[in-house]
Amino acid sequence: MDDLRDKYIRLVAEAGDESALEDLRVQAVGKKGEISLKMRELGKMSPEERQVMGPKLNALKDEINSALSAKKEALEDVALDERLRAEWLDVTMPARDRRVGTIHPVSQVTEEVTAIFADMGFAVAEGPQVESDWHNFDALNIPGHHPARAEMDTFYMHRAEGDNRPPHVLRTHTSPVQIRSMEQQGAPIRIICPGRVYRADYDQTHTPMFHQVEGLALDKDISMANLKWVLEEFFAAFFEVDGIKTRFRASHFPFTEPSAEVDIQCSWEDGQLKIGEGDGWLEVLGSGMVHPKVLQAGGIDPYEYQGFAFGMGIDRIAMLKYGIPDLRAFFDSDLRWLRHYGFASLDVPTLHGGLSR
Ligand code: PHE
Repeated sequence: MDDLRDKYIRLVAEAGDESALEDLRVQAVGKKGEISLKMRELGKMSPEERQVMGPKLNALKDEINSALSAKKEALEDVALDERLRAEWLDVTMPARDRRVGTIHPVSQVTEEVTAIFADMGFAVAEGPQVESDWHNFDALNIPGHHPARAEMDTFYMHRAEGDNRPPHVLRTHTSPVQIRSMEQQGAPIRIICPGRVYRADYDQTHTPMFHQVEGLALDKDISMANLKWVLEEFFAAFFEVDGIKTRFRASHFPFTEPSAEVDIQCSWEDGQLKIGEGDGWLEVLGSGMVHPKVLQAGGIDPYEYQGFAFGMGIDRIAMLKYGIPDLRAFFDSDLRWLRHYGFASLDVPTLHGGLSR
């Protein structure tokens, strides 16, 4: 019995895999295994012999069985370790971004603008592109006869014959989202609204569809000084130049009073435009203090709240930042253009990670 024991303990220790181990199990304790056959011999023994041999054989069987299962567990552990070593995946590896296309400059710049204003506490608001005449014009202090309506080259939607209500329009600016946001959220409020706008115009710097971002901040004590600070912070972050100078020129918009057009500092050397240096100026946006009538239209008491608004062309600032000469090319879907001016798809612009990598 000692020989049997030594033999199987040794063989179990030497077994290299689970199938070798299973063969051993059959050979030792299977139905016709060596130990099982020995147990059968008990029947031929005298009762005295049996009393000695029975427990011994049982103990031997138990010992072999537990050696087998201990070895089985050990082999499984080794196999698992091996798999974990072979099958690991480096999730930090850079993606192959060429294959998944590129991000359009308009989307990229929208993300950049959003990241910068989000950092200053502005939430993103949205509104419909097919807008009511009231939201696009009247609520913004542009009544029916106002020349601004004609100036905007508005696209009008079709109305059924006999329907005399004013037709809906393709929104000509993002300012109607100011009204919708005031209606929905009341004051105080701090939002930007990026989105598509439409005007019937087409040349090197105009397309019938383009993009604007609107800004609106209302509270009890907001002034032009806050507007200036917010815009200067924005330009410095967006154009990635510290201390960029701005110029506020008195202007007129029906929905702001006072109103200002804002220019940023630039230079034109050898036909090359550089933002944030030199003594040239480039107009980039319209702004002002929200007109009391506009606050009223949005359901806000102008005796309690005041604030600023601004509107800026996303395509325009994208052209300036990335040196893109013709606006029309933005919307041609020319693959070579998209590959050249597009951005890596998996690099989301953030203030800490970098805006324009
Ligand atoms: N809505 C104006 C435009 O499209 C821009 C603007 C917005 C001006 C808000 C002042 C305040 O030209």
